[in-house]
Amino acid sequence: DMQYFVGGFTTGAIPDYQMAAMAMAILLRGMTAEETAALTKVMMLSGELVDTSSISRPKIDKHSTGGIGDKVSLILAPLAACCGVAVPMISGRGLGLTGGTLDKLESIPGYRTNVPETEFVRIVNACGCSIIGQTERLVPADRKLYALRDVTGTVPSIPLIVASIMSKKLAAGLDGLVLDVKCGRGAFMKTEGDARALAAALLDVARRMNKAATALITDMSQPLGRTAGNALEVIEAVETLKGKGPADLVDVTLALSARMLMLGHVCATEQEALGLLRKRLASGDALNKFLEMIALHKGDTSFINNLSRFPAAAHRIPVTAQADGTVADVDPDAIGRACLMLGAGRSLVTDKVDHAVGVSGIAKVGQAVSRGEPLAFVHANATESLDAAKDLVAKAFALAFHVNETPAMI
Ligand code: URA
Repeated sequence: DMQYFVGGFTTGAIPDYQMAAMAMAILLRGMTAEETAALTKVMMLSGELVDTSSISRPKIDKHSTGGIGDKVSLILAPLAACCGVAVPMISGRGLGLTGGTLDKLESIPGYRTNVPETEFVRIVNACGCSIIGQTERLVPADRKLYALRDVTGTVPSIPLIVASIMSKKLAAGLDGLVLDVKCGRGAFMKTEGDARALAAALLDVARRMNKAATALITDMSQPLGRTAGNALEVIEAVETLKGKGPADLVDVTLALSARMLMLGHVCATEQEALGLLRKRLASGDALNKFLEMIALHKGDTSFINNLSRFPAAAHRIPVTAQADGTVADVDPDAIGRACLMLGAGRSLVTDKVDHAVGVSGIAKVGQAVSRGEPLAFVHANATESLDAAKDLVAKAFALAFHVNETPAMI
């Protein structure tokens, strides 16, 4: 039945209004685990599958449900690749508040995200990792269904989210998948209960489709790292590859990468994996791997070697603390909305992004600040959006005299 319905929708034999009614029924009534797996399989097979059979190393990818300041993929792909797994990563663009890995990579001049599948596999074979965008031929059912869900209020349905994510990841010819389910105000899943339900449903489909998978639930109650915005995040990712990353970003990246090495049977324990990852980060191997991947995608590596080459936005305005205190709260949603307002993201799929704008130097929960000290910097090109974005960033922060605990990252 699923094949009849989703297959028919993909070819056009089933009209949009029927599929919209089906999506709403799924949103309201849910699906059994078996039905979710059947939907995932039908969607996965709606297009071509990537032939990764020529890649001999274990092919392991990571998927994040997305959050503000999440630049983990840029660090994790080269880091995991230089520890022995192959990372064929097919990523998305930003829509709404969360940024997309492809938009971040495209702030590096020349980087091609739309290489054909054969070249994608060749790059993975050459350097161990490649990050590209979804091709036209991969999972066409999801492209069509996601657009319909977007305009019918049926995006937040766990079975539909699971089928959408897993159909794309499984079509990419992986041996194993690590899932980063973000939890908190800046994420799709706001509560731990919802995040656990999504993680369990994702893992259930992986198990039914004989794919090795692990899920971590990671914090999105404040932005990840200290930057949000495309080029600003690439710069922070490079600093992290140089061993100078913020603790929360490093911790989440290492935890997810360690799971990848364990799924790929490169390491038997998490401790062993973390040791190897730290060694590769400290030696500069991961940074060199990132440079190698960028060069193979025809990106200009001189920007990575000299980060000041990234064009700066016209304005860089500090948002300052109004009193002495400790940062008690940083609302990721407000930072995300400010980025969208500045032009770093898209409201519509067709919007163009401004790679230079965003927010940097974001103070972290638990950080002590003095009156007049910057809590963040707003990078803007258009003066019209500057004041409103600055107000939003200022409102994102709450200070207190004392903060008992900082959020657990994982
Ligand atoms: N990411 C996807 O790819 N699909 C969804 O439905 C939600 C998040």
